[in-house]
Amino acid sequence: MARVVPATERHIEEAAALLSAGRLVAFPTETVYGLGAAARDPAAVERIYRIKGRPAGHPLIVHLPGAKYMERWAEAVPQAAVYLAQRFWPGPLTLVLRRSKLVPDIVTGGQETVALRSPHHPVAQQLLTAFGDGVAAPSANRFGRISPTRAAHVAAEFPEDLLVLDGGPSQVGLESTILDLSQVAAGEAPRLLRPGGVPLALIEEALGLPVHLPGQAEGGGPRVPGSLGSHYAARAPTQLVSADQLAARSLAGGAQVAVLALQPAPEGFIGRWLRLPQEPVGYGSRLYAALRELDALSPQSILIEAVPADPEWLAVRDRLQRASAS
Ligand code: TXA
Ligand code: MG
Repeated sequence: MARVVPATERHIEEAAALLSAGRLVAFPTETVYGLGAAARDPAAVERIYRIKGRPAGHPLIVHLPGAKYMERWAEAVPQAAVYLAQRFWPGPLTLVLRRSKLVPDIVTGGQETVALRSPHHPVAQQLLTAFGDGVAAPSANRFGRISPTRAAHVAAEFPEDLLVLDGGPSQVGLESTILDLSQVAAGEAPRLLRPGGVPLALIEEALGLPVHLPGQAEGGGPRVPGSLGSHYAARAPTQLVSADQLAARSLAGGAQVAVLALQPAPEGFIGRWLRLPQEPVGYGSRLYAALRELDALSPQSILIEAVPADPEWLAVRDRLQRASAS
């Protein structure tokens, strides 16, 4: 059984000791909860794949206490990466760089690159500092399921013996933005691999450069399993519905339908209706908990109102598309 404990100093020290002993620990970050292992311990990292049910070859993000650890894990770090780390770390930005020799193959899925991030959640910071090295951590959910934004979500995913540090709800609520800078030295533009916690506009503004968006890349770029269709999915069939069709579609669904919406429920609706904030930051922070809440009702179907097509909704739109892909 998962053991959920408050993230006190004593429990954080216990968690760091478990990591050193090759065990897994779940911990809060500002994006989602992570399932961590000592990144330099291949046997420990192997356990992550086993308990998540994650197919081999899907690389993991290495979490660092701060930017000064970057040079240990990456080689030929371009100036743009140093600058972005200064500007956005600790925070919800992951940088993909050329890996250094000490990074085990199991962390990178055998690729020549490594994904690095320094989270700003105080509990993650304290844990990483106490451990004093890189922690490989995917989101603490079973493969393909909704990412956890609370300790209780993690406990619900894993029946295994697992220490879960409870640091309250994750504030950002969506995973980090992933930016590939591994080809920048070869003259290529940075590429967005996953929209997330740091808005693209802020990154472009900081770089003074446009970033390549997914789909713009030619040839096979690095593998990102988040880009496999169905991901972050509820168990119930989930559909995206445009704002103007939502009332009619939900009324037709009767009591067995659950709806995640921006607009209020239409008169006569008898299923479950959950409203989220009409701006992307508040919406993103509550999305995964809301999907879990609806899914727990075992509805016949879940309808999600499409969100605006504006750039600041990019990360939310990405997750809604994955949640509704079948
Ligand atoms: O916000 C986050 O990033 C959370 C928290 C726990 O930090 N972590 C997270 O990890 O979302 P995960 O494993 O669920 O998603 C990591 C993504 C995957 O899509 C993986 O393919 C990609 O990062 N990734 C990891 N290493 C990579 C690499 N070397 N090249 C390209 N993509 C990589
Ligand atoms: Mg994940």
